[in-house]
Amino acid sequence: MMDIRGLAYVVVQQKDPATWNAFGENVLGLEAKSAPNGDVWLKMDDRAFRIAVQKGDEDRYLVSGWEVASEAAFEQAKNELKKAGVAFTAGSDAEKKNRNCIDLIAFADPAGNRHEIVLGFKTDWRRLVSPTGTTFITGDQGLGHTVLPCPNFDAAWTFFRDVMGFQLSDLMKHQPDPNGPAARIYFLHCNNPRHHSLAIAEMPASSGCIHLMMEVPDMDEVGRAMDRYMKHNVKLMATLGRHVNDKMTSFYIMSPSNFAIEFGYGGLQVDWTRNVVHETTEVSLWGHDFGVGFR
Ligand SMILES: [Fe+2]
Repeated sequence: MMDIRGLAYVVVQQKDPATWNAFGENVLGLEAKSAPNGDVWLKMDDRAFRIAVQKGDEDRYLVSGWEVASEAAFEQAKNELKKAGVAFTAGSDAEKKNRNCIDLIAFADPAGNRHEIVLGFKTDWRRLVSPTGTTFITGDQGLGHTVLPCPNFDAAWTFFRDVMGFQLSDLMKHQPDPNGPAARIYFLHCNNPRHHSLAIAEMPASSGCIHLMMEVPDMDEVGRAMDRYMKHNVKLMATLGRHVNDKMTSFYIMSPSNFAIEFGYGGLQVDWTRNVVHETTEVSLWGHDFGVGFR
């Protein structure tokens, strides 16, 4: 199995990458800058970027970047893909430059979601200078979590578990109509204490992602971000609420790339030697109305 340490970055595609400058800086509190290749890089911490926005003909999510800690783990990741018969490409010099890393490989999971495994970020350690004074919880917990569409759920789950080494934190069955079918959502952790770095959902999403979560260290920062989404007329996707599983207090808004951003505080850090897997029957302790139609 791979030994993935966290979600390192995501890559999105945008007809006009500059739309992320305003959304990233004015609403989320990230720091935007131009990458050497013309991408927009959004900083969340002392890494050069955590979200890369590249120009393309569709506004969508493109890649989840996962980091490993060592050359040995990077080699092991390649071996796992070979063993499983999964085709991967080695990053070209230009691709490594675009991701600001020492090495990377790229591949797709059985549901067609694209992933990169990355070794060694180049950094000048320049701190985040957020235009809104915001800081984010990243470090050894990675940038946050991403929720990916996996309609062919069984094949996807087998791949994430047996090849990529994710383990089940807990699970949920989403059944909006009591007489309709239930869609499975599995919350998965890698080798860090964040409750889930990845969730896989038995449903399609044309934008390539259901949501991306980023976490701040202070509840007031969530409140200030709520003030900002209203001021900038961003579409609300779910009201403030607190999740049952990772205990995150968060709200959801629509990003320019047609997937939601969950902006939260207070996420659980788990000792995996003591975790017991549950099937949760509610999404949230309170709040999180995903049926909001007023904004
Ligand atoms: Fe989430």
